[in-house]
Amino acid sequence: MTKWLTKPLREKIQQLARMEGTPFYLYHAPTIVSRCRTLKRYFTPLKPVWYYAVKANPRLAILRLIRQQGFGAEVVSAGEIYIAEKAGFSPASILFNGNGKTPQEVEYALQQGVRQFNFDALDQWELLEKMGKKYETSVRAFLRLNPCIRIEHPHLAVGDAESKFGLSFEEAVAEIPRLKKARYAPIGGVHCHVGSQILSEEPFLEGARKASRLFRLLKQKGLPVEDLNLGGGFGVPYHPSEKPFPFPGLMKGLKKILNGLPAQISYEPGRFLVAEAGILVCRVISIKQNERKTIVVVDGGLTENIRPALYGAYHPVFPPGEPLVPHPPSSIPRPTDVVGPVCESSDFFALNIPFPEVKIGDWIAVGNCGAYCASMQSNYNSRLFPAEYLIQGGKVRLIRHRQPLPSLLFLEPPP
Ligand code: LLP
Repeated sequence: MTKWLTKPLREKIQQLARMEGTPFYLYHAPTIVSRCRTLKRYFTPLKPVWYYAVKANPRLAILRLIRQQGFGAEVVSAGEIYIAEKAGFSPASILFNGNGKTPQEVEYALQQGVRQFNFDALDQWELLEKMGKKYETSVRAFLRLNPCIRIEHPHLAVGDAESKFGLSFEEAVAEIPRLKKARYAPIGGVHCHVGSQILSEEPFLEGARKASRLFRLLKQKGLPVEDLNLGGGFGVPYHPSEKPFPFPGLMKGLKKILNGLPAQISYEPGRFLVAEAGILVCRVISIKQNERKTIVVVDGGLTENIRPALYGAYHPVFPPGEPLVPHPPSSIPRPTDVVGPVCESSDFFALNIPFPEVKIGDWIAVGNCGAYCASMQSNYNSRLFPAEYLIQGGKVRLIRHRQPLPSLLFLEPPP
């Protein structure tokens, strides 16, 4: 949870909220650094190559921080390549994933010097061959395996049989003769991402078993595979009932599965590095009581954190001056809804929670907003993107300006 939100920091936040306005995102650099180190420590025996999934949070200051910890960048669009390079990632440390790359995106990647791509379908591999020929260069293509593993939430499950991602084991095997004929995009490895926000080791072990089986088979058949990328997906506890990811158990299982496999292992975590290092700070703008409950309206909403609306995700809401204990999900006599100002009934952070009395102008924080919040924000209702701050070296630093009003019309040609 948000352990770093100490009392002195809460006072600083109050000052910031008063002087600079709300809502804003606030990130904690030491937490991000410590997450990078935690992962590297647990995985030492496997000596993996690490890529940070830029989609979790693409802010330059955060990317730089993670790059300095020895991570490369996992990207899924030309835009993410552009940002990753601006953050100092070398093209050789960038891996271009995604199930639908356009020819323009592949060309852009090649022009920037990116040479590692995964592919989810044969036509996407053919695109790599074609572009490799056009640019007279060779790229390393990683075959994305759909491991056919079911994860709880349908939107976070990308590795089940129904999912649009990857090729099934059988499909991959059937394509071996064609893939062997590669001239510009030889098959450099197998890629397997089982899903996101996973809190137990078993899906990862199952994914590793299937992916290493395919790796062995491809090698046996003479394909030049060297890399086994086991994706991202390590979950974090959002809800108090959730426990931290069981890395020791995962490592124990992985050592057995990967023992003797002649592969360079890589991972591409996003959420685990940044989710708990971020909060969204909002201010109370309206309070009303209806017959059954209290409704607290704050100035941030689904435009800044769409996860509760989109996934039914739980995010702790911290009232000001309270001990930082997330609310228990109990039934209470007079519950509170903490909602946003956006014109959607799904615009809420928490429903039916016990909440202390607050007054207009008080700030509240929404916890675990470091991943997939700012990166999924929108201008719906023509709301402006909030400012973003990073706590680093004991100081609070602005890392992204609040979006200026005229920018809402920047993309419109003059009448
Ligand atoms: N690799 C691949 C191929 C992925 O598709 C993803 C995430 C990652 C790595 C990083 O996964 P992570 O370590 O962050 O779980 N918007 C959703 C999450 C979508 C994740 C999409 N893919 C959310 O807010 O929970």
